[in-house]
Amino acid sequence: MKAAVIQQYGQVGDVVTVAEAPKPTVGPRDVLIEARAAGVNPVDHLIVKGYLRAGELTQPVVIGNETAGVVAAVGAEVTGFAVGDEVFARVDPRVGGAFAEYVAVDQSLVAAKPGTLSFVEAASLPLVGLTAWQALTEQADVGPGTRVLIHGGAGGVGSVAVQLAKHLGAEVVATASADSAALVRDLGADQVIDYRAERFEQVLSDVDVDVVFDTVGGPAQDASFQVLKPGGTLVSILPIADADDKKAKWNVDVRTFMMRPHGEQLAKLGRLAASGELRPLVETTFPLAETVEALQKVERGGARGKTVITIPA
Ligand SMILES: NC(=O)c1ccc[n+]([C@@H]2O[C@H](COP(=O)([O-])OP(=O)(O)OC[C@H]3O[C@@H](n4cnc5c(N)ncnc54)[C@H](OP(=O)(O)O)[C@@H]3O)[C@@H](O)[C@H]2O)c1
Repeated sequence: MKAAVIQQYGQVGDVVTVAEAPKPTVGPRDVLIEARAAGVNPVDHLIVKGYLRAGELTQPVVIGNETAGVVAAVGAEVTGFAVGDEVFARVDPRVGGAFAEYVAVDQSLVAAKPGTLSFVEAASLPLVGLTAWQALTEQADVGPGTRVLIHGGAGGVGSVAVQLAKHLGAEVVATASADSAALVRDLGADQVIDYRAERFEQVLSDVDVDVVFDTVGGPAQDASFQVLKPGGTLVSILPIADADDKKAKWNVDVRTFMMRPHGEQLAKLGRLAASGELRPLVETTFPLAETVEALQKVERGGARGKTVITIPA
């Protein structure tokens, strides 16, 4: 099969190639997916550069973290899926393998693809959707009336978080560049702050924010403590320096976490997408042969939703 592989860590343009690779073996609990599309995330270029390495590479590794396609085979213990089903998944991060014609995924990580979504739309959702869902419902307790500030409202995670926070009943303020403001409002944000023109901590100086969901880190994360009400919660998907000190100083809950794959939660996101409450935001697509260009697009930043790789049937 064709797949995007690395044999060593390095810059995307130097080490990523699209080549022949062995079709994955199908374990007893695995669903073998004939992939039609694969979402691209910042974590993919970080993996290529070796930032998340557990050890050195000893053989070519297929990269990629989320997939949508058609079930081509199932392991002997698989009960919930059958050949021909349309599915999507955030793959096991220890395995990767999504930028390929075939992907083997444990059945507990797979969900039925909503019929209303294309494969490209479905492939854009698992990683960012699960990240936003886990941030808002597990790390924080966002519900009716919660005032949430979401940093990076036009990005992959932020664009889903805005919609999910609205679905949960929250009042949503988001930061984004001026040229993304209309888009983020359209996703449901009640207020959008152009972070290049204004300082959100000044705009919100008279407002109590219950929860900040930080998808950008750095100065935005630091300034977020100024707008949180005492007892509020900062949830970040980026590292937080001196978290315990900040927690004590500002009297807030401070949380950072790594998202985890989860088939049942993904099924719930699929139902929200099917009912129109969650709209995948796809900015660009690239064919599998142009995986390098897809990764470089994500690496440059300035995302307005997701970049997705298409894989011909
Ligand atoms: N811990 C986890 O489990 C986890 C999970 C998923 C992602 N992540 C990490 O979370 C980060 C975001 O991921 P993503 O997929 O959403 O990335 P993305 O699609 O590249 O989106 C980032 C967004 O942030 C905007 N932005 C940049 N600086 C900003 C600022 N100061 N204020 C407000 N917005 C700003 C960018 O737009 P402009 O440049 O136009 O402003 C872009 O729209 C990445 O670092 C990723 O590695 C962590």
